[in-house]
Amino acid sequence: MSEMLSVIVDGMWRQGDKSLAVRLVADNGETLPGWQPGAHIDVHLPCGIIRQYSLTGTCGGESYLICVGRETASRGGSRYIHETLRPGQKLAISSPRNLFPLHQADRVVLLAAGIGITPLYAMALQLEASGTPFTLHYYVKKRENAAFVPEVSGGWRNGECIIHASCEGESPRARLSQDLPAAHDGLHVYTCGPLEFMAKVRDVAAGKGWAATHIHSEAFQPVAPAANADTGDVFTVTLASTGERWPVPADKTIAQVLLENGVAVPLSCEMGICGACLTPVFDGVVDHRDTVQSAEEKSARDQQVALCCSRSHSGELVIGL
Ligand code: FES
Repeated sequence: MSEMLSVIVDGMWRQGDKSLAVRLVADNGETLPGWQPGAHIDVHLPCGIIRQYSLTGTCGGESYLICVGRETASRGGSRYIHETLRPGQKLAISSPRNLFPLHQADRVVLLAAGIGITPLYAMALQLEASGTPFTLHYYVKKRENAAFVPEVSGGWRNGECIIHASCEGESPRARLSQDLPAAHDGLHVYTCGPLEFMAKVRDVAAGKGWAATHIHSEAFQPVAPAANADTGDVFTVTLASTGERWPVPADKTIAQVLLENGVAVPLSCEMGICGACLTPVFDGVVDHRDTVQSAEEKSARDQQVALCCSRSHSGELVIGL
């Protein structure tokens, strides 16, 4: 399980007309653990909600920076941060976890929509520092919605940022086929934003012959299950370390069954979007239902299962606990 950290809200300020930047410093005055672009933290809000937010800005400073968009359909986290959280308040957070790391590349294209700018702004800073050429396309509804505008707008030596506003006819739908270049081996694409946006990126990329291994994305939203989604058949979960085994009924998750039997499970989002509960699988066929792993990871020889939501196609799943 990720180490828990106690932090203080050191500052909050507007980013565009819809988002708030929040700076966090260690409560004990010590340096916070290091992180790399693409990392996120779990923020445990005093209202009982846990939310995942990407770290942004420059790695290696004394503080962590997150940026939170105001969601009209907030499940509570965004509303709490915008309306209740104040500088000076203490929060518990997880140490950073990175499921969206930068890979070695000759050139990088960053495609951000809305608040999806947060991990990609950190990536742009890292690419600039390492001398890797990049282009950041940042799609917003209106220019006034954009966060980190002065930071991303100019002064790059190795890259460029172009802000596209839908209200000016520059929607992702209109732009993506020209903004996404033809595929080649040394070029990688990173995308973050609403699920529909990232699905569109993958569609356009597939049409241009991109290999899935060169397109990287991250979403902090659960994919809605189909209305008639079946939770699945009963199967057995077995612990590789002890051989203990328990049935997982259709109305319970693997995590629930393990917890009921006294097995510690590192849970956070409980929606398959954060990666906290990913556990190696030694035997069995996983019915993957998380959105945190890529299609390649879900079909790789060495697989992990999200204990909070995934199930099994085989009668038994042997896991690395
Ligand atoms: S707890 Fe977040 S993916 Fe399972």
